[in-house]
Amino acid sequence: NTLRGAFADKFLIGTALNVRQVESKDKALQALVRDQFSAVVAENCMKAEVVQPKEGVFKFEDGDRLCDLAEKNGQVVTGHCLIWHSQAPKWFFKDKEGKTVSRDVLIQRMKDHIYKVVGHYKGRVKGWDVVNEAIEGNGEFRKSPFYKIIGPDFIRLAFQFAHEADPDVELYYNDYGMDSPRKREAVVRLVKDLKAHGCRIDAVGMQSHLGLNTSLGEYEKSMEAFIGAGVKVLVTEMELSVLPWPKGNYGAAIETNFAYKDEMDPYKDGLPEEKAKEQNDFYIKLFDIYLRHSKDIGRVTFWGVSDGDSWKNNFPIHGRTDYPLAFDRDLKPKPFVKTVIEMAKSG
Ligand code: G3I
Repeated sequence: NTLRGAFADKFLIGTALNVRQVESKDKALQALVRDQFSAVVAENCMKAEVVQPKEGVFKFEDGDRLCDLAEKNGQVVTGHCLIWHSQAPKWFFKDKEGKTVSRDVLIQRMKDHIYKVVGHYKGRVKGWDVVNEAIEGNGEFRKSPFYKIIGPDFIRLAFQFAHEADPDVELYYNDYGMDSPRKREAVVRLVKDLKAHGCRIDAVGMQSHLGLNTSLGEYEKSMEAFIGAGVKVLVTEMELSVLPWPKGNYGAAIETNFAYKDEMDPYKDGLPEEKAKEQNDFYIKLFDIYLRHSKDIGRVTFWGVSDGDSWKNNFPIHGRTDYPLAFDRDLKPKPFVKTVIEMAKSG
């Protein structure tokens, strides 16, 4: 009666792990990770700024330990991520004088990074989030340093380099806010463009950082559009926040207005029953979508194990109390877990 067992013939069920969890001696946590999940992904320790903090200096220890744990548990590892504007080391884009590097230099740095990292994890990682978050909600390319210095073909180059580094590894494009119709269309265009250029792309990763107001209709349409473009779908970073999204310049508002901070942290003393039910129902609807599309879905990964260690407690406002994941702060499963296990077993 675990997620891992119930979904075994549907799709992988994953979780993101941080370094503390990988190294934790907490037996209950380790058993939960082993028993409930068939896949893991590094929450931070395989990102470029961690892996190559200085040019030519690579740090693989934390990622290696995550792979060791996964191998011990018989779990699939996803590499996250190769090329992303955030958590990319600053030196990527600057020369020794601090001037912006040329297109050729950045392409070479991208190639070196991808070759080294993909090469290091060859055989241990099933697939890579090759490019992360390159498209804005309005469908335009994000004006990241990669885009500004290289142009839109940085994406194609990244996929090409990853494939050269490990022809057997799966390659994914990963992004959030996929319920946006413009983003959906842009991602479909991107998939088609990569395929037209002969690049390998196995799946689109729908991060799925969701809130209770996310339109599941639009979300499902995007899933169908990606499948229609000839790739698998992976749900790569799922969670369901119950907190309000702050309006306007929330940083300043919070520093000067403590009442506002309270308003933004309404469940610090516990989640009211009706909110918990709303979340529970939403999760059941989500899994209903996943089960209906299960033949085209490779994996559904929660972005964390339990509510206490979710990044959402610190975003977009630091120090709140959110309840976005499948297991609560005491590592107890929420009611929907049992329901979706039953749904998987009977479907
Ligand atoms: O490691 C340092 C620590 O030394 C320092 O004392 C502390 C002070 O703030 O920061 C620690 O680094 C934090 C890091 O997480 C590790 O905990 C960073 O500040 C914090 O920004 C970083 O946040 C991560 C975020 O990516 C960075 O953009 C989150 O944990 C991680 O969940 C989040 O994951 C991303 C996916 O990779 C891509 N999709 C969106 C998703 C959510 O933002």
